[in-house]
Amino acid sequence: MATQRNLDETTITDAVVDQFAGTPDPRLKHIMTSLVRHLHDFAREVNLTEDEWFQGIDFLTRTGHTCSDTRQEFILLSDALGLSQLVVAQNHKRAPAATEQTVFGPFHIEGATPQPDGANIAESMPGDPLFVTAQVTGIDGTPIVGATVDVWHADAEGFYDLQDPNWSRDEMRLRAVFQTNTDGRFSFRTIQPSAYPIPTDGPVGEMLQATNRSAMRPAHVHFRVSAPSYDTLITHIFVAGDRWLESDAVFGVRSSCIADFIRREANETAPDGSKPPQPFYTLDYTFRLQPI
Ligand code: BEZ
Ligand code: FE
Repeated sequence: MATQRNLDETTITDAVVDQFAGTPDPRLKHIMTSLVRHLHDFAREVNLTEDEWFQGIDFLTRTGHTCSDTRQEFILLSDALGLSQLVVAQNHKRAPAATEQTVFGPFHIEGATPQPDGANIAESMPGDPLFVTAQVTGIDGTPIVGATVDVWHADAEGFYDLQDPNWSRDEMRLRAVFQTNTDGRFSFRTIQPSAYPIPTDGPVGEMLQATNRSAMRPAHVHFRVSAPSYDTLITHIFVAGDRWLESDAVFGVRSSCIADFIRREANETAPDGSKPPQPFYTLDYTFRLQPI
């Protein structure tokens, strides 16, 4: 047992670790011990002052106060520090043929409306039409029938519905749930997403500004694809050529998730057989799920 008295900035670490010695759950003991060691090493490495310690406490307090039913500033902080993508990467090691996992992000809502194949999920919303055709397969290319596909994305201005202070749950926009058909396919119509900044009006925004970091995320559409016997795929499909692909504020870009959103001219035939009177985009993508 390390001494518990007359502790200095070096001996205090073992003293604290010793106090966790009786933790019954071995995993919790491992996590708490490691957390204390890293936290103390950090404070020693930067020679943390009392002012800086208090600024840190204040920052975390304000981060908590910024959270609400529709805003999770702690997850945003984890995202902006690369912790979320680190945890995703180490928990979803995939075969090279499988579509890669990315951060979930704070803007998903459970219970979006199920939509039939081909539905327009952006009815009367401004923006360039986007026609998505997609297939869900295993890593060997076998179509997965009846997979559940949750889709969500920002509008042409870069905002999610729930960021509107007057938003309520019965006004979901740019969200839907689809089921893959007997060929493992699904399709829908929406609008072309745009790049957008992560929310900067809270403590995370302050951190980005103080450190001269960009808040921008490259344009993308989010997908969550689940099917029995497969690892649920949470990913985004990014627009190839987007200027922010190399500096995503939350470190979520994977090469296998960048796709061509092809621009078509007005009156060309769209995948649903219509001839939109304005220019539009098409995306065709195959999601390859990793078996469990
Ligand atoms: C998003 O893509 O919706 C997102 C992900 C992480 C942080 C902020 C937004
Ligand atoms: Fe997003």
